[in-house]
Amino acid sequence: MSKLEDLMRPHMANIASYHGVDPSVELARNAGIKAEDVIRLNANENPYGAFDKVAEALTGLDLHLYPDTQQRKLRSALSDYTEQPAERIIAGAGGDEIIDLLMRLFVERGQKVLDCEPTFGMYAFSARMADALIVSVPRNETWDIDIPAMLDAIDDKARIVFLASPNNPTGNLLTESDARALLETGVVVCVDETYYEFAGSTLCHLLEEYENLVILRSFSKWAGIAGLRVGYAIASARLIQHLLDIKQPYNINIAGEAAVLAALEHKDELLQRVYSLIEQRKRVEVVIDGLDGISYYPSKGNFLLCRFDRRTAEEAYEELAKHGIFVRRFPQSILDNSLRISAGTPEQTDRLIAALKSIV
Ligand SMILES: Cc1ncc(COP(=O)(O)O)c(C=O)c1O
Repeated sequence: MSKLEDLMRPHMANIASYHGVDPSVELARNAGIKAEDVIRLNANENPYGAFDKVAEALTGLDLHLYPDTQQRKLRSALSDYTEQPAERIIAGAGGDEIIDLLMRLFVERGQKVLDCEPTFGMYAFSARMADALIVSVPRNETWDIDIPAMLDAIDDKARIVFLASPNNPTGNLLTESDARALLETGVVVCVDETYYEFAGSTLCHLLEEYENLVILRSFSKWAGIAGLRVGYAIASARLIQHLLDIKQPYNINIAGEAAVLAALEHKDELLQRVYSLIEQRKRVEVVIDGLDGISYYPSKGNFLLCRFDRRTAEEAYEELAKHGIFVRRFPQSILDNSLRISAGTPEQTDRLIAALKSIV
């Protein structure tokens, strides 16, 4: 009898999986602390939790009915929010699903998917699932895109380029001229604006000029509903229609839909939380400016990439964990001496600052 793996698609059988964040109880168990003492600054989540009015919108829903396959209410509300026509918008189960749908639509086995490392790991993971050739072009010393190297790498096999702006984990924005240079090649360019509300900067206006541009957004970070999994894409009506044609019919569940509608109704209150998180990130920057042995890269997101010069990032990670503070590390990579620290509440930031001062 054949082994199960022999029946599988070969590229799937031994795939390098994506390591997401662990639940707080697991983090606490590994660090030998109580789960309620865990401060999660490791996934750029919103530490304020869901907004009350958003949580209230989840009661009394018609859970026995299937959601709208055409996402009419959702796309209409997103149209008001983004000031883009509804036919240019599709919602996905997190930005992650949109990334996966783009691979399904555009990428065949052996074709090229490009990203610029260091960056968000989901692009490469989804490309691996598509059995694509992943070309990760290193960013330069300011973490900007190496445009000549990208243009060299874009050939007949290239299908799609993923560029996060602000980039996770480096925090810098994609420039309009770099975006244009890549859009002009004609391949699909996905500008991932998951942290748009923190950065306040978008390349949406380029949609008027380029049918090959996709803007990706999310409700996970600014709206505090990562657990409900809603993101969306804005692109040409033609591209969006193709994505609608291939998506799982009921990809956005009733709870996710209700939460997004409520979040958009209360967007001003939610944006106050966004501004507060930016303030907390800036507090950490000021403290680091006054410390030796640690520095940071300027960030437009709700996170800060910090470099350790006198001790290893791994040691700093362990020390922070003893204080109950969990951050993101990047072992065996160009960022192996850096940690990405998400913005927290004022109280969490007080504890982070005290811990940083004690460890560097
Ligand atoms: C750059 C970037 N894109 C996309 C995502 C995925 O977000 P979502 O929760 O909407 O799937 C993340 C999440 O960390 C991210 O950092």
